[in-house]
Amino acid sequence: MKILVTGGAGFIGSHTLVELYAAGHKPVVLDNLSNSSPKSLERVAELAGVESVPFYECDIRDRAAVDALLEKEGHFDACIHFAGLKAVGESVAKPWEYYDNNIGGTLTLLDCMRWHGCKNIIFSSSATVYGDPAVVPITEECPKGHCTNPYGQTKSMLEEIMSDMQKADPEWNVVLLRYFNPIGAHRSGRIGENPNGIPNNLMPYITQVAIGRRKELGVFGNDYDTPDGTGVRDYIHVVDLARGHVCALKAIERKCGLAVYNLGTGRGYSVLEVVNAFEQATGVKVPYKIQPRRPGDIATCYSDPSKAAAELGWRAEYGIEDMCRDSWRWQSMNPEGY
Ligand code: NAD
Ligand code: UD1
Repeated sequence: MKILVTGGAGFIGSHTLVELYAAGHKPVVLDNLSNSSPKSLERVAELAGVESVPFYECDIRDRAAVDALLEKEGHFDACIHFAGLKAVGESVAKPWEYYDNNIGGTLTLLDCMRWHGCKNIIFSSSATVYGDPAVVPITEECPKGHCTNPYGQTKSMLEEIMSDMQKADPEWNVVLLRYFNPIGAHRSGRIGENPNGIPNNLMPYITQVAIGRRKELGVFGNDYDTPDGTGVRDYIHVVDLARGHVCALKAIERKCGLAVYNLGTGRGYSVLEVVNAFEQATGVKVPYKIQPRRPGDIATCYSDPSKAAAELGWRAEYGIEDMCRDSWRWQSMNPEGY
């Protein structure tokens, strides 16, 4: 299939490109490089054995540019839509920028797509839409919860917008993928997560402590109602997540209408379990200090991934050791990122 990949130069997008090529698809990337480097695309080309990845440096809010791309490229079978801003703390400080980029950008993209006759989209949503879940493991039927920050709101609102569009026009096929916590990197160590500034998320912080860029990990709270008191999350290897997108194309092919899937492993690990797994997998110590809880955090969040297994034939294959080993390989081969 010929696929428009917005945000394809980013962390999850770059890994998905490798899997799309491996499955015989033809991706075309649109990215404004606001949170990524074009080097990731050079490395994807090297891993996929292609000369270069077709790439448009373009913003999804720029209607003329998106229209021109669609005009020039001709028919797309589907769009995988990763482009968006994703830093929770920044979204609290800059809500307008988040609503403009994520919601404004997606509205423009959807409008351009329908005018060019492409009504198939796979959207990067997040487990954050469940808020603080009433029960775990979380199934897709769990009611959506209260999002404590504008980033989460954009994901939740975009889910509603695309669902309403699909309801009004059944020619649309919309697949909402709710990611749990993606970590890890391609096993080659050539592509990986490249956060700007101080990492917000656990694994990039751990790898930066391990490489000596930061002194110690702050563990945000050890008084949660979890086995060791630290927060429990469903970490998923980014390559498994990437393959989930290739499998989601099957839902598009069978004209799913609206479909929602959790992409997680179904297993939760606490912060201290992740630290321990990292030390076991890499032999590198990660000094840490218990700190107060981070505002907005919840105790426990992990998926029931059985719907994606039943309907898409997808399940996560990699375990926590693989995730730690591959995160570390990427960090140690690229100490300063790309
Ligand atoms: P990322 O920042 O590495 O990738 C996003 C890409 O989108 C970047 O390359 C950025 O330059 C591009 N982009 C942003 N705004 C754009 C715009 N207006 N026009 C064109 N390109 C634009 O992030 P990621 O971790 O790869 O996440 C991809 C998607 O998955 C995002 O939508 C994110 O919200 C969602 N998501 C990520 C996680 C996670 O933990 N990484 C979890 C749940 C959902
Ligand atoms: C965060 C976002 C969520 C987003 C997801 C993926 C918040 C509140 N939620 O989820 O909206 O979809 O990232 O991008 O930011 N931790 C530490 N020390 C650190 C970093 C994290 O102890 O330096 C702990 C956290 O308290 C949590 C766990 O590690 O218990 C995972 O944190 P993180 O990687 O930030 O992911 P989430 O909070 O699950």
